[in-house]
Amino acid sequence: MKNSLLRTAWAQSNISSPYSIIYIKMLWGDEMQKFIINGGRRLRGELALQGSKNSSLPIMAAALLCKGECTLHSCPRLTDVYAASRILNWVGCKCSFSDNTAVISSEFIGRTEISECLMREMRSSIIFMGAMLGRAGECVVSVPGGCELGPRPIDMHLAALRKMGVDIRESGGSIICKAAGGRAKGARISLAFPSVGATENIILCAVTADGETVVNNAAREPEICDLCGFLRACGADIKGDGGSRITVNGKKQLHGCEYTIMPDRIVGATYLSMAAAAKGELILTNACVPEMEPFLSVLEQTGCSVYTSDNKIYLRSGARLTAVKERIRTMPHPGFPTDAQAVLMAALSVADGTSIFEENIFDCRYRHAEALIKMGADIDVLGKVAVVRGVSSLRGASVEATDLRGGAAMVIAALCAEGTTEMTRICHIDRGYEKMEEAVRMLGGDMRRA
Ligand code: EPU
Repeated sequence: MKNSLLRTAWAQSNISSPYSIIYIKMLWGDEMQKFIINGGRRLRGELALQGSKNSSLPIMAAALLCKGECTLHSCPRLTDVYAASRILNWVGCKCSFSDNTAVISSEFIGRTEISECLMREMRSSIIFMGAMLGRAGECVVSVPGGCELGPRPIDMHLAALRKMGVDIRESGGSIICKAAGGRAKGARISLAFPSVGATENIILCAVTADGETVVNNAAREPEICDLCGFLRACGADIKGDGGSRITVNGKKQLHGCEYTIMPDRIVGATYLSMAAAAKGELILTNACVPEMEPFLSVLEQTGCSVYTSDNKIYLRSGARLTAVKERIRTMPHPGFPTDAQAVLMAALSVADGTSIFEENIFDCRYRHAEALIKMGADIDVLGKVAVVRGVSSLRGASVEATDLRGGAAMVIAALCAEGTTEMTRICHIDRGYEKMEEAVRMLGGDMRRA
C-alpha cells in the first residue's frame, strides 16, 4: 500500500528537486523487494498484452513537441514510464495518469535543461534530446553512461543532429545543444547501423525542423512506426517508416491528439516463452501478430502449437520442447529481436537437444546465463555465441535480476524449476513488465512479491 501510494504520488508530481528522487527511492524501497517463486506448476489461461514500453517512451518525449494536450491510451504503468513523466513535469509539462491513460499537456515549457539525476534514471531519456531540440531549438542533457548491456555510445545520435545544424558541445558530463537560429535544418543522413534510438532522435528533431530530412538505413522496428503514427496524428509529415528510408518534412508546429500505443511484442514473447517452458496453454489477446512474426517463427520450431487470428495468439505446449536447429541470430527488425533472446534461452534450457544463440546487437547481453547455470542449466558463452544444451530439469536458487529481459528469463526458469527461487533486484523487471507476479498468478503460477 505504502509503495503504491508513493509510486502514484511521485509519478504524478511536479517535484522540482531531482534530489527528491533519492528520498522517494529510500521510502519506496524498490531495491529491497524480491520475488518468491515456487516452480513446477502448469500455466494456463488468457492474458491481454500491455502497451509497449519502447513505444511509450519516445511517444511521451514526442508529446513535448505538441502545443496542446496529448491523450495516450494503453500507456503501461512502469517505472521507466514514470521516469519519462518526471522529465516531462520537470521541464514544465503536465503529465498525469488514470489507469492506463496518460494525459500530457505541453502548452508551456519552462526549462530546456534536464537534470543529470533524471537523465540517469533510465538510459532512453536520451530521446528527450531530439524532442527538446524540436520544441525549443536547444537543450542540455547528460551523457548516458554504459549500462548492464555493455557500452552504449550515442555517436550516431550526435553526428546526425550535427548534420541538422545543431551545435553540440560536451562539457563535464553535459551535452549542450543549440540549433543555429533556434531551429534545426533538414538534412540527408545515412546511419552506419539502423539504431532505434538514433532514428527516433532524428525523427523527433526533424518533424519541426526547417525543410526535408531523409534518413537512410533507418531502424525498421515496429516501435518506430508507432512513434511516426503518433506524430502524424499530431500533424507531422513523415513517410517511409517501416522501411529503411524515412522522409520527414518539417512543420512549424504540431498539435495535440489522442492515440493508442501498440501492444508490447517483447512482453508477448516473454509470456509465450513462459507458457512454452511450463508445458502450458496460453491465449494472448491484444497481440500485434505481424510484428511478432520473427519471434513466432522461431518459437514454432520448439514443437509448440502456435495459432494466430486477428489480434490473438494461442499457444499449446504439451510435451518437452525441442531444441531449435538453426542458429538463433539476433538482428535488427525484421530479424529475431535481441530483447527476446534471454526469455527464449530460458525456455530452451529445458528443451531436448542443443540450441545456439548469436547476439549481434549488444556486447554484453548474456549476463542472465550465469543465473540460469546456477539453476542447473547447461550453457557455455563464447563471445557473442551461447551454446544451450537442454537439461531435463532446473532447480530453484537465490538469484539476482541482472537486467530487464535477463530478469524475465530467470522468472521463466524459476517457474519450471523444482523448488523455490528467491530473486532480488527485481526493480529491473518493473521497468518493463506491469505487475508480472499478478499475470503469472492469473495463469496459475506461484509467484509473489515480498
Ligand atoms: N549504437 C552505437 N552508437 C549509437 C547508437 C547505438 O554504437 O549512436 C549501438 C548500441 O551500443 C547497440 C546497438 O547500436 O550495440 C543497437 O542500439 P540501438 O540504438 O538500436 O538501441 P537503443 O535505441 O539504445 C532500443 C530499445 C532496446 C532494444 C534496442 C534494439 C528502447 C527504449 N530501447 O535501444 O530495448 O534492445 O533498441 O532493438 O527502445 C529492452 O527493452 O530491454 C531494450 C534494451
